[in-house]
Amino acid sequence: MNYGAFTPEEECVRMGVGSGKGKTILFGEHFVVYGYPALAAGIAAETVATVTRKDTPGWSLDDRRPEMPGYKVEKAEEQRVSIENVIKFCGIDLSKQGIHIEFGGDLVCASGIGASAASCVALARALNDEFNLGFDDEKINEAAYEGEKGYHGTPSGIDNTASTFGGLVWYVRSLDGGPPTFEKLKLSRAVDLVIASTGLTASTRVVVGDVRAKKERDPNWFDKIASEYDGLVKQAREALLGLDLYRVGELMDRNHVLLQELTVSCDELDSLVSIARENGALGAKLTGTGRGGNMIALASDRASAEKIGAALERGGAAAVWITSFGL
Ligand code: MEV
Repeated sequence: MNYGAFTPEEECVRMGVGSGKGKTILFGEHFVVYGYPALAAGIAAETVATVTRKDTPGWSLDDRRPEMPGYKVEKAEEQRVSIENVIKFCGIDLSKQGIHIEFGGDLVCASGIGASAASCVALARALNDEFNLGFDDEKINEAAYEGEKGYHGTPSGIDNTASTFGGLVWYVRSLDGGPPTFEKLKLSRAVDLVIASTGLTASTRVVVGDVRAKKERDPNWFDKIASEYDGLVKQAREALLGLDLYRVGELMDRNHVLLQELTVSCDELDSLVSIARENGALGAKLTGTGRGGNMIALASDRASAEKIGAALERGGAAAVWITSFGL
């Protein structure tokens, strides 16, 4: 199908708009790549994309998203491939007339908060809007998955799924190339969460590749850690659904230890995790790729979340966000 033909009426300036949510992985980063279940939560902050047609061929970009210093420069080449992938998946022909893309919104570009996935979802939705592609959310998610491949060759798909659908998501990647299984979970009340940034930008491609190389060298090492994780995430799901937040917190703490064993934590993350625990967090762990990026802390209520957030700021976090998930 060729969506690239423009009728004379279409040649006036029009604009397609779309958005994608940020996300946080509560349990299961890295393990999810190998088919273990993971739990992710969409957060309120989002990236908004607008697409405007222009007379010159190709695409141009104005990226106005707020960022952790250095993030956009470091990800520029990956972003270019990602945008190309989404445009290709959407079947847009830019050889005669082009598009100008603008990214904005309140989601701060930082590792571990789903910034890349949110931009892919937002772009797919803006193209869908501008070119009347008729994509439903499943198809938007597929387009965003192609975009995510630009950032890291073999994404599990959890980030684009959480970004497309929002809410609390139980996600299992299919290892034989089939579609993933995912389930939207709903809690009977929202749960408060603190997200803090180390300010360091991590390369998902590099960190995932490193874990893969270690796993290939020593499968027993990986299997032992992963089999503990497998039991842990199932307990976490039950504890979350039962709103047993003390248990959820304990399991987050243990998940962080397993991630340390996978070698994806770092001193900056470990320090923020300790500060959160010392200041009342029910549990804390790194979230997302690791070796930089963000950590999360579970709070018993909003007042506690604010206390933990203030302590993290004093303790050197580059940025702190207080959010909630579950509804
Ligand atoms: C990155 O947000 C999450 C990882 O598990 C990679 C992936 O799931 O594709 C590290």
